[in-house]
Formats: sequence, C-alpha cells, structure tokens
Amino acid sequence: MRVIVFLGAPGSGKGTQAKQLSTASALSYVHLSTGDILRDAIRREEPLGRTANAYMSKGNLVPDEVMLDLINSVLSRVESTSPSATILMDGFPRTIPQATALDLGGKTRVGMAVFFSVPESVLIARLTGRRICKVCGASFHIEFLPPKHNCVCDKCGGALFQREDDSRDVVINRLRVFGSQNEPLLEHYRLSNRLVTIDADRPVEQIHFDIVNKLR
Ligand code: AP5
Repeated sequence: MRVIVFLGAPGSGKGTQAKQLSTASALSYVHLSTGDILRDAIRREEPLGRTANAYMSKGNLVPDEVMLDLINSVLSRVESTSPSATILMDGFPRTIPQATALDLGGKTRVGMAVFFSVPESVLIARLTGRRICKVCGASFHIEFLPPKHNCVCDKCGGALFQREDDSRDVVINRLRVFGSQNEPLLEHYRLSNRLVTIDADRPVEQIHFDIVNKLR
C-alpha cells in the first residue's frame, strides 16, 4: 500500500488538505487521521479512548506502543477494504520509533513526506479559532474560514464546537511537544530523499493545487 505522510505542526492545515484531497472524486486517496481515530475512541468511551484522553487533554503525545498497535490494526483494515488506495496519513508518524515502524511495516511503502511549513504565530491563531462540526467533522475557522451562519456547519447544518485541546494553554504545550520531535522526523525523511516542504501559510486552494502537483 502506498502511503503519503503529512507532517507539520498542530494547525498547519494537514487535516484540511487531507480531507479535500480524499473527497476529490478524480483522486483515490484514503484520509487516515490518528487524531480523529483517537477522538472517536474517546467519544465511544473505549479503553483506548480513556488511555488517550489522559495525554490528549494536556496536549502530550499518546505513547508509541499504544499508537503502533492502533496504526497496525487500522492499516490491516484499509489493506483488506481498499488494497489499491493511496493513504494520506495525517498525524502519524510523530516520533522516530513511529517513523521507523512505518518503514519496516510489511505492506506499506511511504513514498513521500509532505511538510506543512507555517510560522508559529499563525498556528496559534488558527488553532484557537478553529471550530468543528459535531455531525460531519468539517473544520471551520471563526476568522479565516467562517461558516455562513454563526456556529452552524455549512455542509450539514450540524452544531460547531471547539476541540478541548484547542484552548490556548493546551495549544502552547502541543506546539512545544511538536518542536521537540519535529527536526529528527524531518531528517529521517530528508536523508532518504522523501521530504517535500510546502509553504502552508497561503490560501487553502493554493496549497491544494501545490500538493496535487507534487503527488502526480
Ligand atoms: P491531531 O488531531 O493529529 O492534531 P494535530 O496534529 O495537533 O493537528 P490539528 O488537527 O490540530 O491541525 P491540522 O494540521 O490538521 O490543521 P487543520 O487542517 O485542522 O492530534 C491530536 C492529539 O492526538 C495529539 O496532541 C496527541 O495527543 C494525539 N495523537 C495523534 N496522533 C498521534 C501520534 N501519532 N502519536 C502520539 N499521539 C498522537 O487546520 C487548523 C485550522 O486552521 C482550521 O480552523 C482550518 O480551517 C484553518 N486553516 C487550515 N488551513 C488554512 C489556511 N491555509 N489558511 C487559513 N486557515 C487555515
């Protein structure tokens, strides 16, 4: 299975771009967000959710052994349901043990790692202003991508909410954690000539256009 990894700070736009690419009918990408999977496990009150929530609510990383079990089971499921799809992996890997495990994982092949480069001051504004639809998961921003009607999803009419880890204090910790892991991860992909960096401090459509060209 071919995998494209999206790397970047919290709020750099990985999810926005992965969703757009995976819903474009002419392309056959499967969006796999480890953050979404963990939040779903929290909502369902599963054991995985209870473990993950203790870390996520503070903006810390869920331990590697938990994430590796999770990713292995998710990849096996995708392999059996959509064997020819290309996976857009959003939020994984975040550490060197995760990246190494993904490279060694039997049937997956990471062809490219796309790094979303955005200045930190922009990231804080993006995260604290983000609002998500409770029903369909669409992402909005109170200033940069406002819904047509206040607190209501344009796509399905669902109510919008703010993620618990998008409060300012937790955002600061998430950015600190990201800063401590990011450089070795970039080096991992740079050394194997798989790293592509894009300027992600531009309008969503321009970034989408850029990524589509790089993935061709
Ligand atoms: P996760 O859900 O992966 O969060 P994240 O990496 O912190 O990323 P975000 O979803 O916050 O940001 P994004 O880059 O997707 O930005 P988005 O497109 O939404 O992880 C959450 C937690 O789960 C982690 O903290 C950790 O605890 C745990 N976890 C997950 N994976 C793990 C792993 N592998 N190992 C260990 N722990 C793990 O955009 C943000 C906002 O900006 C939106 O409002 C959007 O509308 C707006 N926006 C997007 N693009 C633009 C643009 N070009 N211009 C203006 N606004 C824009």
